[in-house]
Amino acid sequence: MDLIARYKEVRQRTEKICSYLQTEDYVVQPVVDVSPPKWHIGHVTWFFETFILKPYFMGYKEYNPDYNYVFNSYYETVGTRVIRTDRGNLSRPTVIEIYSYRKYVDEAMEGFLCGEVGDDVKELLILGFNHEEQHQELLMTDIKYILGHNPLFPAYNKNYAAPRIDEGEGDAFISMDEGIYEIGFTGDGFCFDNELNRHKVYLNAYEISPKLVTNAEYLEFINSGGYHDFRHWHAEGWDWVKTNKVEAPLYWHLIDNEWHNYTYHGLEPLHLKDPVTHISYFEAYAYASWKGLRLPTEFEWEAASSKFNWGRRWEWTESSYLPYPGFAKAPGAIGEYNGKFMVNQKVLRGASEVTPPGHSRATYRNFFQTNLRWQFTGIRLAR
Ligand SMILES: [Fe+2]
Repeated sequence: MDLIARYKEVRQRTEKICSYLQTEDYVVQPVVDVSPPKWHIGHVTWFFETFILKPYFMGYKEYNPDYNYVFNSYYETVGTRVIRTDRGNLSRPTVIEIYSYRKYVDEAMEGFLCGEVGDDVKELLILGFNHEEQHQELLMTDIKYILGHNPLFPAYNKNYAAPRIDEGEGDAFISMDEGIYEIGFTGDGFCFDNELNRHKVYLNAYEISPKLVTNAEYLEFINSGGYHDFRHWHAEGWDWVKTNKVEAPLYWHLIDNEWHNYTYHGLEPLHLKDPVTHISYFEAYAYASWKGLRLPTEFEWEAASSKFNWGRRWEWTESSYLPYPGFAKAPGAIGEYNGKFMVNQKVLRGASEVTPPGHSRATYRNFFQTNLRWQFTGIRLAR
């Protein structure tokens, strides 16, 4: 792998995503989960500076020691930091200053990568590339939230086009035999620690849909009173519906009796054939229950994943985010990457239309809390 080329490609992709923003768009944090774009572009830079340049590049001079406080996300090992809810309250460093920080770190990184790089550093670098790609997806979803919650509903990019993924013809469920399946990453390439160890799982016979649930199908659930019938919901989900007065997926707006949807193009009439998205786990579960079906477990999803086309939506599974047998955290700060989040979250499988190309794989485990909807989540049914 040409490390310099890969580094440049990853860094440029982040800046391309931000190239459609106005300066003011970079700064706001409308809710805790949505970070200001300028924080993302500083944080991913901080990651390379903290984990590569400072420990491994002899003579490297830290750009600004105060930035560790501002751009550390959740690494206790690396010291104190701005609390997450306050990321949007910082008018400084400015967007221009953060781009200067990026440039400084990029030049140092390119100098560093011209030399000999050991295997341990290479591993950290590849983690850094994948980390920045994860933030590219977060940038896309956070930007959507920021613009989509502005009453003017500004477009992000009128030329935005989701990658084309053909889900194929026919909707007969795929039958899977009972038996022992191997789950988890295998091979020579990169994977996150949470995809290991590969292990055996026994599955009963099951069937899984080759397609994602569409907006049209989800609309039937809404129109049949799904949000007003406690029988389809977990107790916690039902409380969430009532407390938040939820009536539809995030970004849906009923205008003159016609459903509209905020997209990267602005507010548009709902596209009925698109897979439903921006739904919580609670909603995915309730929809499946209303259909008399269920969500697949993450193991069922992975075992069947070569038999359907995935990648349009992160698919909620019925699995809690737990360590696989033999899971081990890396020593030091990097050990905080995944393991400490293995509580109170559900696993999502697949990828979404804003996942960077090549970032995901069949063993990839995404995870979010059950009430969150700002990611491109979706539903695949099983029985
Ligand atoms: Fe991060």
